[in-house]
Amino acid sequence: MRVLGIETSCDETAVAVVEGAAETQPVGRILSNTVYSQLTEHRRFGGVVPEIAARAHLERIDGLVAQALDDAGMELAELDAIAATGGPGLIGGVMVGVMTAKALAFAHDKPFIAVNHLEGHALSVRLTEPVEFPYLLLLVSGGHCQLLTVRGPGEFTRLGTTIDDAAGECFDKTAKLLGLGFPGGPAVEKAAVGGDPKRFALPRPMWRKPGCDFSFSGLKTAVRQTVEKLPADDPRAVADLCASFQRTVGDVFADRCANALARAPSSTLVVAGGVAANVYLRGRLEEVAAAHGARLVAPPVRLCTDNGAMIAWAGVERLRLGQVDALDFRPRPRWPLDPAAANRM
Ligand code: KG4
Ligand code: ZN
Repeated sequence: MRVLGIETSCDETAVAVVEGAAETQPVGRILSNTVYSQLTEHRRFGGVVPEIAARAHLERIDGLVAQALDDAGMELAELDAIAATGGPGLIGGVMVGVMTAKALAFAHDKPFIAVNHLEGHALSVRLTEPVEFPYLLLLVSGGHCQLLTVRGPGEFTRLGTTIDDAAGECFDKTAKLLGLGFPGGPAVEKAAVGGDPKRFALPRPMWRKPGCDFSFSGLKTAVRQTVEKLPADDPRAVADLCASFQRTVGDVFADRCANALARAPSSTLVVAGGVAANVYLRGRLEEVAAAHGARLVAPPVRLCTDNGAMIAWAGVERLRLGQVDALDFRPRPRWPLDPAAANRM
């Protein structure tokens, strides 16, 4: 089955066509994967401006759909379904993607699938690696930081979440404070190369506490206070702080994942979401997985940050189960993977 996937929940307009076998055999094939990154539109504001994002999605979406089909060498009529991120995210952008997908589905008489953006990240690993359910997932992006057991599409048990900020947000803030630009994650990772990870002792919120929850606001504040006192005449200071910051996040991830692996033993630990692109953090997670007799599996770096292929793939997984949506689906600004856990918070 071949599914077109549309992603418009933040600042990437992305469209892809993915093919997957009809039976439940994992691993698919990416036939095309186009993306227009709105970086230049948002850079001068130091973050994503929702109104600008929605307009930019609207301007680009039709062209990207045409390009994705062209790259895949396909006509719309040859698709088996049209999927789009239905939430959570910036609602103006989500509406653009959902309306486009619904219109295409209606005009060509194809099933429409509304994909939870977080499920897109959660299942993306199965597009490229034969990972069986259930698995333990560390989902770390710009807006989310959660540990979950993934039993199948739509079947998630949340073990922990952040009580304040997301890890990606903390990377972005650190980069902003150091004037490294936006988005912050890749900038901090690059600046940390060769830095001394032990020079600055930063707080590790939740470290060695029971449970699987996260907290990053205290770390954010500590980074700000450290930046304010950073010696101007020390050329190594920025690299050392970035390396120390990354190590601190690595310590927290390792500690929380160790608790999760003890509580919900799994032979596979998966990391996904934009922050999973970080090579240092992947290394730390590999160590913690190995210490618990598990293996770490991560999507290729280019599929960690937002993309259309993960939405198309989640569409394939849902279509296999016959899970399609009606055309009156309403875009959802909030859409927890484990609603029962979200209600407890
Ligand atoms: O999944 P994603 O592309 O969008 C959301 O759904 O939020 O994640 C974006 C987040 C941003 O905060 C970005 O700074 C972070 O992922 N990120 C990274 C890296 N690449 C992207 N964080 C750390 N290291 C990276 N290499
Ligand atoms: Zn994302």
